[in-house]
Amino acid sequence: MSVAKKEYKRITVKTLVDMKTNGEKISMLTAYDYTMAKIVDGSGIDVILVGDSASNVMAGHETTLPITLDQMIYHASSVVRAVERALVVVDLPFGSYQSDPKEALRSAIRIMKESGGHAVKLEGGKEVKESIKRILNAGIPVMGHLGLTPQSIYKFGTYTVRAKEEEEADRLKQDALMLEKAGCFAIVLEKIPAKLAQEVAKSVSIPVIGIGAGNGVDGQVLVLHDMIGMTHEFHPRFLRRYMNLYEDMTTAISQYVTDVKTEDFPNEEEQY
Ligand code: KIV
Repeated sequence: MSVAKKEYKRITVKTLVDMKTNGEKISMLTAYDYTMAKIVDGSGIDVILVGDSASNVMAGHETTLPITLDQMIYHASSVVRAVERALVVVDLPFGSYQSDPKEALRSAIRIMKESGGHAVKLEGGKEVKESIKRILNAGIPVMGHLGLTPQSIYKFGTYTVRAKEEEEADRLKQDALMLEKAGCFAIVLEKIPAKLAQEVAKSVSIPVIGIGAGNGVDGQVLVLHDMIGMTHEFHPRFLRRYMNLYEDMTTAISQYVTDVKTEDFPNEEEQY
């Protein structure tokens, strides 16, 4: 059964704005490789984010800071080869856009040219305004990211909820308006109070996609490996687990180990 208000053959940045206008919620998940992206795309997701969370999920780093532009391009090109319908958004990694707008544009161009992704995402508000404008001027769609911005973890010190105080909430509201005015096609809001996120979503005409930002926004994003229960040690309140793959895989792999050790595998039918 489809819950989409309208069937879209191929999702574009314009489709997402249409979805907001039509009151249809946007579904977004991360993917970092061909096989997972094929499953995610085939399941009807609207947006696939090749997130720099690959740094944690795929490479085992504690933060998103170490992942490089080359590594992001590798992940993104694997995803793009799998995708037929979803819009593929690729994170600009830490260090590839903060120093100056020219470098930001060079990094965004490399992502678009070398991976075939459809848009880039970058973290921050007014401090990255000039970079956003330069990337947009080159015809590359940009998704903003406000609230908890993991690339600034050493500035925040913790991964707790952002913008609980009025001053930070006001700054976030201003930044969202700035991102819309600059020409971003959507904004991710991460880990902020639901009431504030709803207010922001209402104040802009572009889609606002939340993670830990309540249900008053225009869509939701989760990290795939969290929602399918592969990363079992991570339990934030906003996360809904749809499977427990960590347990299922552990059971299956333990069984395989036993079967090999006991010479149960391979049997007659499993050999030539
Ligand atoms: O990198 C990522 O996975 C993200 C999401 C958490 C939005 O930026």
